[in-house]
Amino acid sequence: MLISLRQLLDHAAEHGYGMPAFNVNNLEQIQAIMQAAVAVDSPVILQASAGARSYAGEPFLRHLVIAAAEMYPDIPIVLHQDHGGEPAVCLRSIQSGFTSVMMDGSLMADMKTPATYEYNVNVTRQVVDMAHSGGVSVEGELGCLGSLETGTAGEEDGSGAEGHLSHDQLLTDPEEAADFVKKTGVDALAIAIGTSHGAYKFTRPPTGDILAIGRIKEIHARLPNTHLVMHGSSSVPQDWLEIINNYGGDMGQTYGVPVNEIVEGIKHGVRKVNIDTDLRMASTGAVRKFLHENRKEFDPRKFLKASTKAMKEICQARFEAFGCAGMA
Ligand code: G3H
Ligand code: 13P
Ligand code: NA
Ligand code: ZN
Repeated sequence: MLISLRQLLDHAAEHGYGMPAFNVNNLEQIQAIMQAAVAVDSPVILQASAGARSYAGEPFLRHLVIAAAEMYPDIPIVLHQDHGGEPAVCLRSIQSGFTSVMMDGSLMADMKTPATYEYNVNVTRQVVDMAHSGGVSVEGELGCLGSLETGTAGEEDGSGAEGHLSHDQLLTDPEEAADFVKKTGVDALAIAIGTSHGAYKFTRPPTGDILAIGRIKEIHARLPNTHLVMHGSSSVPQDWLEIINNYGGDMGQTYGVPVNEIVEGIKHGVRKVNIDTDLRMASTGAVRKFLHENRKEFDPRKFLKASTKAMKEICQARFEAFGCAGMA
């Protein structure tokens, strides 16, 4: 059954848990998430970026999620659009049947240029007006994702803010957050606390100077009734990094957001935790290992099964750690 983000996060707040929101692009990712959810009785958030829509095509994406709902009728599913760059993108998702959209007005529509506060309020308010009239939820973002170590967005593929970001841009201001929520009426607010998209978040296991969990507490104290969202929250599993590199890959040494730090955030108002990179790494590691160990094999279902299993294990671990197991 499809439900809105607001319905799910209100329940999460009431019961004190957080929800991983996994990015999806294809059948195997959706199956992995659903298999894990049914194994531990958790609701799910399936989120698709504009890139996912152009990868799979809108009809495939939509029907894959409808298939998941049909196959798992007892699991509540939020279908969320990740990082909408402009109101028109959000509108297309609403028309396609998404139950939640993110209007990322922290950046201009090019998704590279940091936007002004006024621009962000204006586009986010427009999307809230549109979405709420159809019962669709809205996530906004205030502050730019990026590394406190380097002052850059960090993403190697070029998504995220371009150029140098100041300390002020990289950490959401609690007073501004309160004003933003009041002016826009968003259901959930993504905040910047030093995390960045992709695998290369931190050059060492993060400490408080580069991962500002304390900032979550300040924002939550000012906005106790707002559902907070952490982006760039993959943990970058060291075991999968090693498997990738042991079976022909070449990823640099890097660290993500430790699960226990996310759990600390969940104690202070974080209700949605965005994860894409961890499933990418598990999938790639499992495929590399399978093909290396089974050199005569050429049936893609075999290595895709290995990929699905690896992703499922990560999903299940996050459902359990974030407290949403048993909440479906
Ligand atoms: O925010 C970034 C997500 O990981 C989605 O990535 O735009 O490559 O689909 P993507
Ligand atoms: P990761 O790259 O850390 O998985 O973050 C994904 C994300 O924030 C999607 O919006
Ligand atoms: Na999102
Ligand atoms: Zn994100």
